[in-house]
Amino acid sequence: MRVLVSGGAGYIGSHTVLALLDAGHDVVVVDDFSNSKPTVQGRLEALSGKHVPFHAFDLTDADKTEQLFVHEQIDAVIHFAGFKAVGESVSEPLRYYQNNLDATFSLLRAMQRSGVSKFVFSSSATVYGENAPVPYQEDYEYLSASSPYGQTKVVIERVLSDVAAVHEGWKVALLRYFNPVGAHPSGQIGEDPQGIPNNLMPFIAQVAVGRRERLTVFGDDYPTADGTCERDYIHVMDLAEGHVAALEHLGDLAEPVRAFNLGTGTGTSVLQMLHAFERATGKELPYEVGPRRAGDLAAFWADPARANTELGWRATRTIDEICADTWRWQSANPQGYPGA
Ligand code: WQD
Repeated sequence: MRVLVSGGAGYIGSHTVLALLDAGHDVVVVDDFSNSKPTVQGRLEALSGKHVPFHAFDLTDADKTEQLFVHEQIDAVIHFAGFKAVGESVSEPLRYYQNNLDATFSLLRAMQRSGVSKFVFSSSATVYGENAPVPYQEDYEYLSASSPYGQTKVVIERVLSDVAAVHEGWKVALLRYFNPVGAHPSGQIGEDPQGIPNNLMPFIAQVAVGRRERLTVFGDDYPTADGTCERDYIHVMDLAEGHVAALEHLGDLAEPVRAFNLGTGTGTSVLQMLHAFERATGKELPYEVGPRRAGDLAAFWADPARANTELGWRATRTIDEICADTWRWQSANPQGYPGA
């Protein structure tokens, strides 16, 4: 299939582009580079040996989006593009709702007009909110995220359900990620957050490469084995392969829309991740324990059984592989991707 990947220059998007090409699909990328760099295109073409057309514009421009579907033959869409900083979404909710929803609306209208009916959506475990029983299961109905960012995912999932229900033949997969980490084993593509990383793994990697002085562990008094929060960290290559599996199984869906957890089903603590990274680098990494971060939950992870059985997909890469691949990327690219 020829797949339009929105946000394909981003962290998960770029890895998914590679997985799609490896699986024999063709890819077209649209990205406005608001949180990524054009350098990624060259890295993807070098790694895949294939041309990867990039269209640089903002998907909230409905006319440009429609023109893209007129000029490019597209069979399916995988939609990553969107603002995703939890903290920023709290201070700028309207900007987040407008951007994330309008970009999705542009894509859906263009799909309607051009007869494209396959859609894979980059959703998030954050839709389960703060009260879902662990491990999280897809049939949990009380979806309500604790941040405007997460709520855009809840709303878009609902929009997709309502739109797919009235369009004959539409098939939509809602992929709820847990904590994406790691990098392609080549070390040529990886996570490149702009500014101070919000997330654990890139922060640890920047400490290891000397960009940050030390890690602050946000609380060690949680009701967990070592007192630090536990999360379901999934290798981005496992995640990317999960998108290919979902795309290729869309035709098998009995319903127009179906949600899938993409996780390992296992929790790992902050300190366990830090020490795994020390093993990968052979260095002792400095850290201090600070206060809890507002909004953090103590522990959650996926029940991935539905994706395992219905998509024939399973996360296989270990925490040690995650750290080794992350370190290979970060040490080869200490400042992330070059260029503005
Ligand atoms: C993991 C753990 C922190 C940084 C976030 C988003 C979620 C999703 C995945 C998009 C927590 C601790 C972190 C640090 C620390 N993104 N930590 N020191 O919060 O589970 O999920 O990313 O869908 O929407 O909320 O991931 O990596 O920020 O934190 O101690 O410098 O690491 O307290 O326990 P989180 P995270």
